[in-house]
Amino acid sequence: MEKFNNIEKIGNKEIQGETTWKSPSNIALVKYWGKYGRQMPANASVSFTLENAYSKTTMKYKNGSGKVTLFFEGEKNEAFGEKIEKFMESVKDINPFYQELDYEISSTNSFPHSAGIASSASAMSALCMGLCKIEKNIFETLTDKDTFLQKASYLSRLASGSASRSVYPKLGQWGEHAGIEGSSNLYAIDVHDRVDPIFHTYKNSILIASSAVKEVSSTLGHKMMNENPYAAVRFAQANDNLQKLMDAMKIRDLDTFMQIVELEALTLHALMMTSNPSFILLQPSTIVMIDKIRKFRKASGLPVCFTLDAGPNIHLLYPEKIATEVQKFVQDELLELCENSVIIEDEVGNGSKEIMN
Ligand code: DP6
Repeated sequence: MEKFNNIEKIGNKEIQGETTWKSPSNIALVKYWGKYGRQMPANASVSFTLENAYSKTTMKYKNGSGKVTLFFEGEKNEAFGEKIEKFMESVKDINPFYQELDYEISSTNSFPHSAGIASSASAMSALCMGLCKIEKNIFETLTDKDTFLQKASYLSRLASGSASRSVYPKLGQWGEHAGIEGSSNLYAIDVHDRVDPIFHTYKNSILIASSAVKEVSSTLGHKMMNENPYAAVRFAQANDNLQKLMDAMKIRDLDTFMQIVELEALTLHALMMTSNPSFILLQPSTIVMIDKIRKFRKASGLPVCFTLDAGPNIHLLYPEKIATEVQKFVQDELLELCENSVIIEDEVGNGSKEIMN
């Protein structure tokens, strides 16, 4: 039996309860792009856990047969409900008791649905923290905090790969890597204490180039990596970049940090451009902003860099102590390039948290 399986049954025991979790989004520094088998990553990745962009999910549960009723932003959402129901069905080999309960789930996001910010990491990790709490309440398992988080990360990975990293504070790493002790393809680990504390103070200003729904979903993008002629080289490069990045973060080498982070962002988009059929998620304004950021860095000597998600929006990354200078630059030069002048301010945060009512 696998480490995370709990094949106990509820049986005749009467169950009724409620649990609420808040879980953040994250922004990858080394990107996960490509997977195989049952949600196994083609390469290892690492991300900053965010603070302000989060999902808050309340789960009410009672004896039943795996039925999910889902409310998103206060309104019943059948499509999301079905997705969650299917996910729980897909992991019933791990926890058969999921099918012995019915759930009423109410979820909200702190960020606007249309802002172009990835919501699967926050939504799925909040859900899986809730599922682990339910398991703990019913069977008195997962009493040790580390085991609890590891199982929550394991389940989150099965729901959405990047969600596995969101449960941990500050810096989550997912994927087996020879240079990273304790790393695994099955779940992410907390690596925040393996880097210089300056990285715990990082700010993330999200410059919205476009909030339009993506033309190509992440799921499809991952799939296209199976046919990408550069895939093997990319997976080796990502693992190499991860080692270099962790080494640089340990000794506060900000130049190497910025170099690898920007290389990873542009490589992700280069992989999209070299998939078949090729696709481009960048906007013209994304490129203009990148050019301005690099020029500003050169002229000011300040350690500010960018990364990108699978979309056109720029995630500006910089230590808190230069926030005033960077934010002035953003107001003066980048704001006018953002769609409806929208910028979302975020920062490195503390991971998933239970909300007590
Ligand atoms: C570009 O985690 O959304 O954000 O596992 O299919 O749910 P699924 O994919 P997802 O992919 C995230 C891709 C990325 C890079 C990253 O977060 O590492």
